[in-house]
Parts: sequence; structure tokens; C-alpha cells
Amino acid sequence: MAHLLSTHCTLIPSPATKMFFKPLNQCSAIVHTSVPFWADRSPRMVVKSQRKRQEKQYVSSPMATPISQETGSKSSAASHKIQNESIPKCKKVMVIGGDGYCGWATALHLSNKGYDVAIVDSLVRRLFDQQLGIDSLTPISSIQNRLHRWKSISGKTIQLYIGDICDFEFLSEAFKSFEPDSVVHFGEQRSAPYSMIDRSRAVFTQHNNVIGTLNVLFAIKEFREECHLVKLGTMGEYGTPNIDIEEGYITITHNGRTDTLPYPKQASSFYHLSKVHDSHNIAFTCKAWGIRATDLNQGVVYGVRTDETEMHEELCNRFDYDGVFGTALNRFCVQAAVRHPLTVYGKGGQTRGYLDIRDTVQCVELAIANPAKQGEFRVFNQFTEQFSVNDVAGLVTKAGKKLGLDVQTISVPNPRVEAEEHYYNAKHTKLIELGLRPHLLSDSLLDSLLNFAIKFQDRVDAAQIMPNVSWKKIGVKPRTVAV
Ligand SMILES: NC(=O)c1ccc[n+]([C@@H]2O[C@H](COP(=O)([O-])OP(=O)(O)OC[C@H]3O[C@@H](n4cnc5c(N)ncnc54)[C@H](O)[C@@H]3O)[C@@H](O)[C@H]2O)c1
Repeated sequence: MAHLLSTHCTLIPSPATKMFFKPLNQCSAIVHTSVPFWADRSPRMVVKSQRKRQEKQYVSSPMATPISQETGSKSSAASHKIQNESIPKCKKVMVIGGDGYCGWATALHLSNKGYDVAIVDSLVRRLFDQQLGIDSLTPISSIQNRLHRWKSISGKTIQLYIGDICDFEFLSEAFKSFEPDSVVHFGEQRSAPYSMIDRSRAVFTQHNNVIGTLNVLFAIKEFREECHLVKLGTMGEYGTPNIDIEEGYITITHNGRTDTLPYPKQASSFYHLSKVHDSHNIAFTCKAWGIRATDLNQGVVYGVRTDETEMHEELCNRFDYDGVFGTALNRFCVQAAVRHPLTVYGKGGQTRGYLDIRDTVQCVELAIANPAKQGEFRVFNQFTEQFSVNDVAGLVTKAGKKLGLDVQTISVPNPRVEAEEHYYNAKHTKLIELGLRPHLLSDSLLDSLLNFAIKFQDRVDAAQIMPNVSWKKIGVKPRTVAV
């Protein structure tokens, strides 16, 4: 039974929680794959407030009006950029992974745009931080406090289902209770280095991502056949071929015959391989069951602020800078802020697509507002500019100098197995055609990102900066392990 949790309820461990891997640290305890957040299995559950200011018992059920709708504090919408647009046609959006970096920003954005949003999240990302002894540069509030704050600022309720989508019973109840028109699926283990730490992380990543997505497909087929799946894939699925990368499909003439086929995939980690497998499963179910789906092959996301997350410090998004979860540009800004040399892997010619987090939320909204047709498997390449690692280091160095920072760059041995100099030209026109107005990487954005990193520099743990997971020495415990 899925439980629609209010933003202030006690979370009770599930008897159904599965155990998959040992923690990274030396202790021998077995850790749950997802923080176990089940209440009892009856349709009605009693939840007791954790908050001193609301010491009162609430009765809730998955079908009941969410408690947070009844108890929300007075809206201060007028003082913020709260939008009250006409209600969109496909209005109920389930955001799986809505407590994560892209998901949180997207859930708030869609809520602000008038969509009725529910977040589904196991909070396992917060558990990874604890296991690896890492933390977001920015202090982030609990999901409950985040949603309370959003309600008090905007007057809008985001419903919350805490659980693991690999648990089909949980997911089914969430689907039956919320009845989504669209599902945006961010809810995966998304770090390539994490998937390369050891066997158990590789297995966890592929199980979590592939089975989770498979469950979402089955839930759509069983409970919401019209529902549009918007799935976050990655540009990393394509690898770095020596020809142009198309958006999902390529037309090939072979031995005199021509066909349009899925673009070849050359994944470069167990994580990327899980995304490739997801894409195949989704494409198959579009064909076999008539599922409508959009695969957003996203580039590397940078930035932290969106219109909604900057409305209050409790809405602040996470910002990863460590060697396992940090992405290139965000990492370099933090390194510059704390006077650590920028860590270019190998020759630094590795080129990828990049986008601002403000464009992630825009792209997802465009995909929802213009759904795929029944049976269509649509693929969009979701990035706005491409840079090599050396380009990114150069841009951060220039921006740092303007702020008086002496930014140095070093080449560190590449922990990954990847081409360090290669051709790269990836198409990305479909989202622009739908109306995407990109926020390109500008001096002012870099200034603000650097200033942001400087503001939180006291929270930086320098020991987390260097890469410590090797693609070749898999199984060796990383240096970040807390002992
Ligand atoms: N961040 C990037 O630069 C980037 C680039 C390309 C693609 N993507 C894709 O975008 C998606 C979101 O990335 P992110 O950076 O926001 O990641 P994130 O780790 O910050 O967020 C993922 C969220 O999903 C949740 N989750 C994971 N497994 C779950 C499960 N089984 N059940 C329920 N919830 C689960 C986690 O708790 C977390 O809150 C991922 O699918 C990732 O592959 C991200």
C-alpha cells in the first residue's frame, strides 16, 4: 500500500524493504536500498506529527485529501513570482525522484505553472550521502520541510509518496491514488562513478534503474494507459562516435536498403548501461502496448538556482561537488572558490552537451505540454551547448580572475575509460522547435555560480574533491569511505 504522506508525518519502517548491499564503511551492518518509509498496510493510517508546533494526530489514507492541504499556513504568494496560469490540459504530473537535484527544481516549477504535482521518492539519494560521507554544498531541508515551505509561500500543495518504485505494490498504490496524466521519471541512481565503485553498487544501480523503470511501464499499462511517460535518459548513452549524433534515430542505407533505426549506443559505465537498457524497454513497450513516451537524453546539468528554489532558503536545491556525484562545471566552481586546482581528467578534450538547470525544468515542461502520441517513442537530446572539459576549465578560470581568484588547473590521471580527444557533434533541435529558450552559459551566470560557491566555501570538504573511483580498479574501496 502506498501512503500519501503529509508533510509532517512520522515515517514507519517497511517490513517489505529489501536489502541489497553493504555500506561502504567498515561496519558490517546491512543497509536498506531505500530509506524504509512505510506505514501500516491498511487503507487508513494514523500518522503522528513530528513537529512540536503541531502536536496532533492526523488520520490519512491514500485516497484522502492530503493533510498538508488542510493545514497549510497562509500563502505569501503575492510577494513572490507565483504564477496562476490557466490550468494545463494534462494537469496531474507525478515527479519520480522529486527530492533530487533535477526533480526538486522541476516539481516546484511545474507546481508554480499550475500543474497538480505529486513527488514520489525513496530518499535513497540522501542515504548515499550518508554512506559515502559526502554532503551537498548547500544545506538542504528535509522533503517535509521543503513542501511545507512551498505551501506557505505559494499556497500550492505538492503531494508526497515516499517509497521505492522497485516495489510494485507501492508504485501501484501511488498510481491508483494520484492518477497521473504524465509521469516524469528522474528516480534513478545517476552517478557513473557510484556504479563503478564495486560489484554491489553496479548491481544496485542496474537493479534500481532498470526494474524501477520497468515497474513504471507496467503501472502505466495497468492503471493509466493514456499517461505520458517523460523519462530522463542521458547523452552518455550515445558515447562519442566519430560521426554526428542524431536525436534518437539514424537513417542508414546498407547493401542497397534503407531504414531508420535507433541510434547506436556505446555506454561507458554500468550506470550508462542501465539507461540504455531503460531506453530499450521503453521503446519496446511503446511498440507492444502503445505506451506514449519521451526519452530526454540530457547533457550535464549545471547551476543551482531556479525561479522557485530561490524564493526561500528552505527551498534551496542540492549542489554536489564531490568526486562521485559532482558534475564538471559545478565541481570546477567549488574548486576555484576554495583555491583547489581545477581537476581536468587526462587531456581534457572530453566533449559533452551541457545545460542550465533552468533549462532542465523548461524542457520537461515542454515535453509534458506537447505529449508523445499513443505508441510513440520520442527521443529529444536535452542540452543547449557543448564544451570540452578544457573549455569549461578555461571559462571558470576567466570568471575566477574577474573575482580576484587565482585559479590553477592540473591534469589528474583519468579515473574513467573514455576518449580524451575526439569528434563530437550532437544534434539538439527538437526541444528548440517546441519553444525552448536556452539560458546559455554566460559570464554573469558563471560569476553568480562562483559567488554561490564562495558563499558556502566553509562547507566544502576538500577530501571529497579528488576523484577516487577507478573504472579499472573496480572493487577497491574509495578513499571517501568514512571509517
Ligand atoms: N544531473 C545531471 O547532470 C544529469 C545529467 C544527465 C541525466 N540525468 C538524469 O536525470 C535524472 C535525475 O538526476 P539528478 O541529478 O536529479 O539525480 P539525483 O540523485 O539528485 O536525484 C534522483 C532522485 O531519485 C530518487 N530515487 C532513486 N532511486 C529511486 C527509487 N528506486 N525509487 C524512488 N526514488 C528513487 C533519489 O532518492 C533522488 O532523490 C537521473 O535519471 C539522471 O540519470 C542527470
